[in-house]
Amino acid sequence: MALGTTLTQFLIEEQRKYPGASGEFTSLLAGITTAGKVISREVNKAGLIDILGYKGKKNIHGEDVQKLDDFANAIFIQTLCHTGHLAGIASEEMDDIYHIPKDAPKGKYVFLMDPLDGSSNIDVNISIGSIFSIYRRESEGNKATMNDFLQPGRKLVGAGYLIYGSSTMLVYTTGHGVHGFTLDPGIGEFLLSHEAIQTPKQGKTYSINEAYQMIWQENIAAYVDLARRQNKTARYVGSLVADFHRNLLKGGIFLYPADQKNPEGKLRLLYEAAPLAFIVEQAGGRASTGRTRLLDIVPKKIHHRVPLIIGSTEDVLLAEKCISGSPD
Ligand code: AHG
Ligand code: MN
Ligand code: MN
Repeated sequence: MALGTTLTQFLIEEQRKYPGASGEFTSLLAGITTAGKVISREVNKAGLIDILGYKGKKNIHGEDVQKLDDFANAIFIQTLCHTGHLAGIASEEMDDIYHIPKDAPKGKYVFLMDPLDGSSNIDVNISIGSIFSIYRRESEGNKATMNDFLQPGRKLVGAGYLIYGSSTMLVYTTGHGVHGFTLDPGIGEFLLSHEAIQTPKQGKTYSINEAYQMIWQENIAAYVDLARRQNKTARYVGSLVADFHRNLLKGGIFLYPADQKNPEGKLRLLYEAAPLAFIVEQAGGRASTGRTRLLDIVPKKIHHRVPLIIGSTEDVLLAEKCISGSPD
């Protein structure tokens, strides 16, 4: 499709290609992009917070200012809970499942999100993002159940992220390739900028927080040593979305292994690791815990954590070999 096609037009054309499609996902994505535009606007104003009042503190008028994570969480809920397509929402910012209110129509999907990823970077003008997962619910009653959320990534029906960087972008997949749209702030529309993204088989960068080398799980240091000997260069933003997005487009590997501080890994399976794993596989890349395909992990709880190794296939394969103790 022509670059510059609006997201709305693109979705209409996609729907035509897959005759079984009900249009519900299209409508859900419209809500997600609305939330993304509002969050993008607020993120762009974040530099004014010191002047207008610090988030989480009182502003100059003595009013409480909501933290951007909470703001983003509330905006997603507000734009999605009345679409009629969801039965429940889970989020990094909420301990428990959010049930769609009684007066709102219920739907056949559940939505999970990291409403603001990389939020420690807000104050220093570094790219941040929002990540989301969509599953078809398995239960049939009026209310979504915990099992509707605790599904392995291979059952995802949609996943994506928004990145608030030098531009705001939406990247998503429904299992028919990965597509990227860039927000034209002048007209408030997401325009097709990256169709059918394929990630390079091998990259020139590795992304890992090397400060934790002393406490990494076994054999991670051996892989990083190999990566250096392959003349790869290090790039680590500290916003998963930003690190992932760069590697998706340019090739590379991102690792957040288990370590002594986070023996199960730090990143959350359902709304950080699994949606990005779905995207990377759709783009021809690979994602694992180092031992198991990421999309096959069955979550035990909403905030389940996993080690994550994700990116270009050949790089991830080599990391997996190192972790299993046989790099050759
Ligand atoms: P969040 O801001 O949603 O809590 O996520 C932060 C995550 C992720 O974005 C990033 O890759 C990772 O934390 C960085 O962790 P370290 O500072 O431990 O490297
Ligand atoms: Mn996060
Ligand atoms: Mn977050």
